[in-house]
Amino acid sequence: MSQPAGAPARITATSGARHSRILSVGAYRPERVVTNAEICELIDSSDEWIRERSGIISRRWAAADESVVDMAVAAAATAVERAGLAPGDVDAVIVATITHLYQTPSAATLIAHRIGASRAAALDISAACAGFCYGVSLASDMVRGGSARHVLVIGVEKLSDLTDRTDRSTAFLFGDGAGAVVIGPSEHPGIGPTVWGSDGAKWDAITTRTDWLGYRDAEEPVWPYLTMAGQTVFRWAVWEMSPTAQKALDAAGLAADDLAAFIPHQANVRIIDAMAKRLALPGHVRIARDIADSGNTSAASVPLAMDRLLADGDAVSGGLALLIGFGAGLAYAAQVVELP
Ligand SMILES: CC(C)(COP(=O)(O)OP(=O)(O)OC[C@H]1O[C@@H](n2cnc3c(N)ncnc32)[C@H](O)[C@@H]1OP(=O)(O)O)[C@@H](O)C(=O)NCCC(=O)NCCS
Repeated sequence: MSQPAGAPARITATSGARHSRILSVGAYRPERVVTNAEICELIDSSDEWIRERSGIISRRWAAADESVVDMAVAAAATAVERAGLAPGDVDAVIVATITHLYQTPSAATLIAHRIGASRAAALDISAACAGFCYGVSLASDMVRGGSARHVLVIGVEKLSDLTDRTDRSTAFLFGDGAGAVVIGPSEHPGIGPTVWGSDGAKWDAITTRTDWLGYRDAEEPVWPYLTMAGQTVFRWAVWEMSPTAQKALDAAGLAADDLAAFIPHQANVRIIDAMAKRLALPGHVRIARDIADSGNTSAASVPLAMDRLLADGDAVSGGLALLIGFGAGLAYAAQVVELP
């Protein structure tokens, strides 16, 4: 557009769709099922203790030659197909992960290439277990702001690579997998306001044992396995994340009764149950408990649990779901979405 003579040059701004929504979900779960009995071969624990304290019965581990990119591509391809789109329609790919083991380049560019979204903008985000909900927020704003029409948001982890199988405070918790959604334009609001934030004062509550320099320079290098102050995280999750979830509900102008589903990060079934109780969720609200046979899959846990709820035919399709992700950082994000 030409500008009036003599006026200072102005940037032409974009604006996008009025509203956004999740158009589709896809998931990938690795083949190998790892039981609590197998975990207990290397730690002093029991199937009973793990079930009671975490709610985990089994988890999936990717094959040695199966990468974060491989898993993400499988989940993403399903999501794009279910959205009725061609890969070339994807304008941007956001990948939430902490287990893509290249410092650079990102996983996202390779995933975009492998699914055929050859010109999509592509980036990884590091917000650990909150990463997927961060990605949903960014993608929704991109669609509404006009920088993209269709955004693929992927949560993917191969936590088995960063889990010390002899550390009994973490060995039983983590699993591998990938979940993806396509976010695009909508006639009505399909993604509510995100309530998000961080608490860097608890930065070391979940971290890797060392950074790359520590690994390189140590006389006896220890792989940067994840370590966690379990009780600190547990208390923070129960006491601070329930009010955050409530704020997301309030920000969307909704009440618990309006929900069809509650899909929190799958960290511990006791955390999930405590949050559901504090939110006073009525009986009809389906509560995702994918953790039982997936373990904690960090950034992948919310989309994997979403895919499971939809696949189980629990009549939640088209209903409203409260999502919340929280974890290392500590970082958190919650929003209400309309399920595809
Ligand atoms: C990890 C977690 C399941 C541990 O459960 P917990 O009830 O807090 O367990 P504690 O660490 O208090 O330990 C309780 C007892 O069990 C023991 N214990 C710890 N791990 C054990 C294991 N794998 N098997 C058997 N006993 C174990 C402890 O030694 C302790 O024994 P003691 O009472 O004799 O001292 C729990 O803290 C948790 O889920 N935390 C949050 C996890 C999370 O959200 N992580 C990531 C967010 S992304």
